[in-house]
Formats: sequence, C-alpha cells, structure tokens
Amino acid sequence: AHIVAGVKLANTTMSVVILDFEGNLLAEHAPTLEDSVYAPQALADTLRGVLADACALANIALDDLSAVGLGMAGIVDAPRGFVYWSPSLNGRNVDLQPVLEKELGVPFFIDNDANLVAMAEQYFGEGRGVKDFLVVTVESGVGMGIVINNKLFRGTRGCGAEFGHTKVQLDGALCRCGQRGCLEAYVADYALLREASVASGRRQQITIPELLESAREGDEMSKSIVTRASRMFAMGLANLANIFDPELIILSGERMQMDHLYANDVIDRIREATIQIDMPPPRVVIHKWGDLMWARGAAAFAIDAVADMAIERLCEVA
Ligand code: BGC
Ligand code: NA
Ligand code: ZN
Repeated sequence: AHIVAGVKLANTTMSVVILDFEGNLLAEHAPTLEDSVYAPQALADTLRGVLADACALANIALDDLSAVGLGMAGIVDAPRGFVYWSPSLNGRNVDLQPVLEKELGVPFFIDNDANLVAMAEQYFGEGRGVKDFLVVTVESGVGMGIVINNKLFRGTRGCGAEFGHTKVQLDGALCRCGQRGCLEAYVADYALLREASVASGRRQQITIPELLESAREGDEMSKSIVTRASRMFAMGLANLANIFDPELIILSGERMQMDHLYANDVIDRIREATIQIDMPPPRVVIHKWGDLMWARGAAAFAIDAVADMAIERLCEVA
C-alpha cells in the first residue's frame, strides 16, 4: 500500500499524521519540541526521530513511506522545496528538500503551512465544493492560503499569499520578517505580547490566553490591545474581500480556536470595512481545526505530488 506522512512544523510542536492513499488515518503524533529555530541538519535529525515514532505507531518503517509532506511557516518555493525565509529555520535561502531527502531517504514535498491548511480545507473541510476561497490563520504569525478556481494559488515563485506581511502602517511596528508596518506586527501572538509587555512597563509576563481572558473580564489595558488587534485584522480581511470577492473566507489557527468572542468581533468589523454596496459580504467561517488537520493537508499535498510524479513517468513511457 502507498503510505505518506504529513507534518506541520509549528513554533515548539511538530504534528504528524500517517495516511494511506485512500486517506485513512493510520497514526497521529504531536510531540513538543525543544527548539523553535533549526539549522537544516538539526531539522533533519528532529524529523527523523519524530517520523520514526509516528511510523512505529502505525506499525510501519520509515522506508515504507512513499513521501513526506512538510508544512512550515515562511516563504517556500514549493515545487523545489527551497526556503527563502522561515521563522523556523536558521539562515535564509536554504535548499531544504535535498538535505531532508538525503538524510531521511524519503521524497519530501515542502510548502508554506497556511497553503497546506487551504489544501486540507479543500479536500477534507469547509472548502469542499467551493471554487474560490481564502484561508487566513492567526497564531505565531498570520498566514494565508488562496484557492482560485479549485486550485491553490502560490504565485510565480511560491512567494505569494503572504497576507501577514501586507503593509498597514508607514514606519510601523517591527515584524519578524525584518520589515516594519506589516499586518502581522499588529495581529500575531508576538505583537500582542509585545504590546502587553510595553503597556505594563515590562513588569508583567503574560500569555495569550491570559491576555484574552483579562480582556474578557474587562481590564481596560488588555481590552484596548485586543480590540486594536481585531480592528487591524478586520481591516486586512476587508482588503482581501475587496480584492478577491471570494465565496468564502475561513479563519483558522489557535487564536480563532481560543476565543470566539474575538473571532465574532472580527467578523462584524469586516462588514464595517468592506465596500458599502448593496451586496452581501463574503461568508466567513471560523474553523476549529488543530494542528493535526494542518498535518493532514501536508499529507494530501504529498499524495498529490506522488500521483503527479507517477503521471509524469507514464507520459515519458508513452
Ligand atoms: C509567515 C507565513 C506563515 C505564517 C503563519 C508568517 O509570519 O510569513 O509564511 O504562513 O506566519 O505561520
Ligand atoms: Na501561504
Ligand atoms: Zn513582515
């Protein structure tokens, strides 16, 4: 049987699913990692260990995998598995695919994490049967996947759909990409934590769930941080609605799962910010999928890629 693994690399976790080509789930595994930034070789070593454990759960060997799909944050040229930039990788312009294939002896297909969420939604989720839709994720960063005409749109070099780095402010807040004024620098987890730390005179270390909780309880400082973030986010989403006129926008990622109040507030604000014509706004849904569903998208990507290779070979023979 053909079997693949799908992996989502997140900040300090790696989520893995093992799927057969019929889409049956053979195992899932989501260990916590020690590091959040890796050199390519260290990433290969970590992947080897985590994949071996996941394969053991499915009663197969690493060698039995036809391919591994890997989703990670950052700018990835997907067909080549070349990573221009990723917050998870040490250094820029890393030719990651050959390193992983050499070290693990399995074909690897690497893509942007949010693109693979879009693929998961397309095959298994809210995107089924929807021709044009967008997925936007909020957690450590702000990510996006674009499906147009039933197909994932990556841009010419795979650098597109970087919604988190659309500019919303001149000389604005510092983003993790090194630029200033990116949407993400006002909306992502690190942005909120940075603002909370500054507002408390750097005395207080707070977590995102604590910040959201304290905003819900009416603490003025927390409320203003969270409200500003949701207004900025809604403004960005309204821009997307104005550009794409999508049938559906799916909001995903940890932040959306954590706080429905927050998510619903964002949805109301999108309506305020889209062009005011007599037309219904795009449908917006909140998806509560966790990382393992993202990993399923990575597995679907691997199945797709293996099938494509098989068809290419068929054509060569014919
Ligand atoms: C990265 C994206 C990624 C998103 C979510 C952003 O900082 O630029 O590539 O999809 O975070 O992880
Ligand atoms: Na993307
Ligand atoms: Zn940025």
